[in-house]
Amino acid sequence: MDGGYEIVTHKSLKLAVFISGRGSNLKALIDACVDPDFPAEISLVLSNVENAGGLEYATQNNIPYEIVNHHKFDDKSGFEKEIQNVLKRYDVDLICLAGFMRLLSASFIDVWPDKIINIHPSLLPRYKGLDTHKRALADSAFETGCTVHFVRPEMDSGPIILQKSVPIFPDDTEKTLAVRVLVQEHRAYPQAVRMIAQNDIAISGKNDTINHHQD
Ligand code: GRF
Repeated sequence: MDGGYEIVTHKSLKLAVFISGRGSNLKALIDACVDPDFPAEISLVLSNVENAGGLEYATQNNIPYEIVNHHKFDDKSGFEKEIQNVLKRYDVDLICLAGFMRLLSASFIDVWPDKIINIHPSLLPRYKGLDTHKRALADSAFETGCTVHFVRPEMDSGPIILQKSVPIFPDDTEKTLAVRVLVQEHRAYPQAVRMIAQNDIAISGKNDTINHHQD
């Protein structure tokens, strides 16, 4: 240094966001990345659905997107091979599944060890799979919420990064509940990405759970 300012550069985590639909969680991540202090950026949006609504967010924000339509492949392995080929063309540290409606195989996940995360609209392990709000209402549950977790081959399983809960009121419908949970999803996903980017968490290999680093 010769009297100048030291420039501190933070490494930015490069994300690939996988979508199949409207992409409101993608939008939440895009909005988070606008903040210069947010330690991540989106390199790629990948959709398996040609006209997924969320692709509009990629276009509006000049984020490259790619479509890998699963219908065009004979089997899952061909579909996933093509996704891997696409990913090689981009700088990607972490894959964020955001309403991506295909279950990734163990061999795909193995290529990205602890580098694939997902958001799910329930307090896992409760209500894995679809229709989570309907099932919470049918159970007369008092609360539900959302979970961001590392992806393991079994659907909606893997070490939980964070959860946010919301109350369920007597007059709730699937729709009102979905709206309440979605608000929390949009807070949770950027928060989870930040935790990973800042190395706030580590997975313990012994029991596949998360340790939170205290500083
Ligand atoms: C969200 O509820 C997410 O939790 C689930 O799929 C939905 C996707 O919504 N995995 P969007 O496409 O992000 O709006």
